[in-house]
Amino acid sequence: MKKALRITLKTLGVILVILIIGGLLGWWYVSSQFLSFEDDYTEKTEIPELTIDGYTFLDRNDNGALDVYEDDRASIEDRVVDLLSQMTVEEKIHILKGSGMASGMGMVDPEEGIPGVVGTIVATPRLGIPAINLSDGPAGLRIEPTREGVDRTFYATAFPIATLLASTWNTELVYSVGDAMGNEALEYGIDVILGPGANIHRHPFCGRNFEYYSEDPLLTGKIGAAMVNGIESNGIGTSVKHFVANNQETNRNYNDTRVSDRAMREIYLKGFEIIVEDAQPWTIMSSYNKVNGTYTAESRDLLTDILRDDWGFEGLVMSDWFGGNDAVAMINAGNDLLEPGTKKQWKALTKGYEDGTLDMDAVDTSVKRILTLALKSKKMTDYTYGENPDLEAHAEITRKSASEGIVLLKNDDTLPLQKGKNVALIGVYSYDFIAGGTGSGDVNEAYTVSLEEGLANTGFSVNQKAKEVYQKHKNANPEAFIKPEGMSAMFNPYLPPEMSYDDAMMQDIANDSDLAIITIGRNSGEGGDRVVEDDFLLSEAEKKMLSAACEAFHAVNKKVIVVLNIGGVIETASWKNQPDAIVLAWQGGQEGGNAVADILNGNVNPSGKLTMTFPMHIDDHASNANFPQNGMPMQMMDMLFGKDEVPEDEMVENVDYTNYEEGIYVGYRHFDKADLDVSYPFGYGLSYTDFEYGDMELVYENDSLKVTLPVTNIGDVTGKEVVQFYVSKDSTQIDRPEQELKGFAKTSELSTGATDTLEVNIPVKSLQYWNEKSSQWTLEPGSYVIKAGASSRNIKRSVQIKI
Ligand code: BGC
Repeated sequence: MKKALRITLKTLGVILVILIIGGLLGWWYVSSQFLSFEDDYTEKTEIPELTIDGYTFLDRNDNGALDVYEDDRASIEDRVVDLLSQMTVEEKIHILKGSGMASGMGMVDPEEGIPGVVGTIVATPRLGIPAINLSDGPAGLRIEPTREGVDRTFYATAFPIATLLASTWNTELVYSVGDAMGNEALEYGIDVILGPGANIHRHPFCGRNFEYYSEDPLLTGKIGAAMVNGIESNGIGTSVKHFVANNQETNRNYNDTRVSDRAMREIYLKGFEIIVEDAQPWTIMSSYNKVNGTYTAESRDLLTDILRDDWGFEGLVMSDWFGGNDAVAMINAGNDLLEPGTKKQWKALTKGYEDGTLDMDAVDTSVKRILTLALKSKKMTDYTYGENPDLEAHAEITRKSASEGIVLLKNDDTLPLQKGKNVALIGVYSYDFIAGGTGSGDVNEAYTVSLEEGLANTGFSVNQKAKEVYQKHKNANPEAFIKPEGMSAMFNPYLPPEMSYDDAMMQDIANDSDLAIITIGRNSGEGGDRVVEDDFLLSEAEKKMLSAACEAFHAVNKKVIVVLNIGGVIETASWKNQPDAIVLAWQGGQEGGNAVADILNGNVNPSGKLTMTFPMHIDDHASNANFPQNGMPMQMMDMLFGKDEVPEDEMVENVDYTNYEEGIYVGYRHFDKADLDVSYPFGYGLSYTDFEYGDMELVYENDSLKVTLPVTNIGDVTGKEVVQFYVSKDSTQIDRPEQELKGFAKTSELSTGATDTLEVNIPVKSLQYWNEKSSQWTLEPGSYVIKAGASSRNIKRSVQIKI
């Protein structure tokens, strides 16, 4: 017996040793291939100076002479040509891929780089080209807030999620957010922000919709361009992502988007095209997915023919992290930079050079683009970053933008509230407000203002009976209230379980307070798509909580307000008749609670409008027929090591490939065409005041329709109005949407009785459709109707024109 025990223990011991050695070898292998695999951070290297004719230059080459590329009086173009001529093939191949993931995993020595940087353009020390730092992401700069041995923090501002920013329909405001975000990058030594995201909300369940703006490409393009221009006004680059047709997270690295040329041009590419035209971003990020069988990162058609030749994009294209499959094909196609860079790619490029498959002209073109970015960067100037951005000023911008993107969905004589009211906060998310989504779109912010704090900050009192219920619930479930940190926070949304209230308890709270606010919270992010149960639909606990609160509060003539602290569309049709008001707060960043309170107490009059449709049922969306339901989570190992191609006959629909059968009929384009009722239409949003639209006038000038429209505030309080301009084609010969958004504008803050005359430019070329027969944009002659609407289903003025 003893012997048997000894043998068993011995066997267990051997297994343990094997496991430990195996684990160590595995970790060594992963880190040598995917994490930092060379030490090339040289940004802090001392560069000697040269003085010529009393003018000081940096002698980056340290050869005691002034090379053209060192002469900052020469054009960047000439300097790049000079640099390229001095580089060896090895140096060129080296710069085509980043230095691995180390810093992104928080592993970098602060002396050598900036913790939290998720990728780099590698340095070329011999020529004094420094490493360029790339950091996420759309809702704020993602860097590590703490550093070993450093007695201070490095917080970045969590701005509102992209969907909220788009809901402001205010390009100037979005520019100011971009400007603040870019300033944080500048002050923390980051050269390129990996954002904004410009993918289309094809279906409400895409886990990353919060990082994207809208179901409409024009709005996506205009808001995206404002963000790019704001960030880049600091001399910091952007990487507009994920190019293109990357609309689901299920099997995200390998899914094949099967889509028509027309839908590509009119819907999925259009937003990117507008951003290139209006903002010429420094970089664009290719996506993980394939389009019609080819990885976007390997598609010459997308990256060179369309992006460069058709649109005139001048910047560089980088891959998404570990995206693409064949490094040589990527460079040959025009994907200039491979991120974060792996040893495997380095070897593949070297082999491609040796066997002649790597196109050396393409290499030179890509290297030039990379060098151009490096020369443009702050690293090549004598700018010293201070690591002290004005976080307080940025918090103000956050609060202002967050309140302007909040959409008032329902208001039965309830809002604004009088200050001083005692508010019963119902539901965990009233106390645990969600600032933003997860994944690379997450930000390491210093704090998040909850709704509870926001109300207290703006002159309300928070009902203690309701708070006690929350406290008890939290104490009973301590584990569920631990916020995931670091890498774990990236892929695990913080979603503590909802509370349950019995009727007596709710009545007690109702008797003890002036009104109830119920917060419904949702969160999602990179690596997973959303689902129907307990996500799109309210959970059983939420339904009960809502009914109980409405019953108890209405019984004593008190109001119930629902606040939606969500990152994507949820079902509203079945319950929206119950509460007295519904405030769509989205995820407003670190100042979220203050921003909602500003709306509730009337400090800010709501002026946000929906950038997507809220459907009656999820299957009303045409795309629902082809969207993964309950899709599998991200496979990390597949992402790192690649996955064997799945034979066509074994492919799983909506996992290995997704047919975009709905074509151009995404969002309101479909709901209008199919004449479906919706819960809230695209463009919808209420205000505390009313607006009157005057006569719309149209003038044809320089291939554009110049539209003017006076808007007057005819209500009692100051406010702003978003006006949307839709265009319909009368008696069309082709299959086209009933109407499409072709312009929008927002009034200034109008006091009672004040008028603002809005001016919008609709280029005639924007009325074209993509003609698949001739593969070109085509203008259908005849009569069009230009409409001005307060939403897509509330058209107030229209004018007919002939083209
Ligand atoms: C995401 C990108 C992000 C990159 C770097 C990828 O997983 O798809 O959006 O910029 O990681 O964090």
